[in-house]
Amino acid sequence: MTKGEILITGASGQIGWHLCRYLASQGYRVTGTYHSHKPALEGVELRQCDLTDVASLSSAIGGDYQAVIHAAAYTNVDKCEKFPDMARRVNVEAIGALASLFPPEVRFICISTDLVFNGERGRYGETDRVDPVNMYAETKAAGEKAALGHPGGIVVRLALVYGPDTPFSFGFSSVMKGLLEAGKPVPLFVDQYRTPVYVGDILRALQRLVEQDPKHRIYHLGGAERVNRWEFGRLFVDVFGYDRSLLQPVTTESVGLVRRGKDCSLDCSRLAAEFGFRPSGVLEGLRRMKQGVY
Ligand SMILES: NC(=O)c1ccc[n+]([C@@H]2O[C@H](COP(=O)([O-])OP(=O)(O)OC[C@H]3O[C@@H](n4cnc5c(N)ncnc54)[C@H](OP(=O)(O)O)[C@@H]3O)[C@@H](O)[C@H]2O)c1
Repeated sequence: MTKGEILITGASGQIGWHLCRYLASQGYRVTGTYHSHKPALEGVELRQCDLTDVASLSSAIGGDYQAVIHAAAYTNVDKCEKFPDMARRVNVEAIGALASLFPPEVRFICISTDLVFNGERGRYGETDRVDPVNMYAETKAAGEKAALGHPGGIVVRLALVYGPDTPFSFGFSSVMKGLLEAGKPVPLFVDQYRTPVYVGDILRALQRLVEQDPKHRIYHLGGAERVNRWEFGRLFVDVFGYDRSLLQPVTTESVGLVRRGKDCSLDCSRLAAEFGFRPSGVLEGLRRMKQGVY
């Protein structure tokens, strides 16, 4: 049975790509946008758009959608620091312009990040105060406000995402896999805690947010366990059978990266209480990833 029409921005990205495939397989008519990489996605209508070209958005992607899931973003934390104007244009200004294209009854789901928190405490809930510590996070926090300016706006803050490879975007699990397969060392932070979330759990939770009537306007979507990347890496090599000795524990300071919060783990009890969301633990998520199932 064909369901409604959904617009997914960022169809060439890690999350948008999986989301297009998944929702198309669930019977939705899916339109996906890309910017510089045209993905091959069966059953998905693809449209090219540049979010910084605000004047062209209406003709590029306007339509009669039941819901919009905005997953396109300027996501590289280090590049956001280097090119703050571009980060603001894509992550903030484009959201206001995009949201203004859709009437109030359209659900406008905007994907944000756990990094909007300063990471000093961890286990953040939706009512906790955001306090971004770098440009990426600052623009994402401002983008949340722009999304909530739309009457149907809903913000979903994701934790660190892992899942099967996508054609153009290299999330952290794909980068790690690439290094391990090449027999190269993999530096992994021991001093940054997150609640990594399996992409399949994200897809199901977003589907519920499209199909049911959410009571709130902000949701946290993370995995069941709070771990650092080093701990995650050890489970990853065990499940996939890679060489454990390639993993190298490092601290954020020793690598000299742009500042990130130490503990941006998320409390996802709102999603659990309202929608029965039960996120996977890391081992379970990795096993599903190995089997290639969402
Ligand atoms: N992945 C994670 O671990 C993670 C964690 C927390 C939150 N998030 C959030 O989740 C969302 C999706 O992230 P992701 O990892 O899927 O991102 P990604 O893989 O980096 O993909 C970014 C997408 O945005 C598109 N894009 C970038 N600049 C654009 C522009 N000027 N105009 C139009 N499209 C543009 C890219 O298109 P082209 O490639 O075609 O240029 C691509 O489709 C983002 O909001 C991100 O902040 C991700």
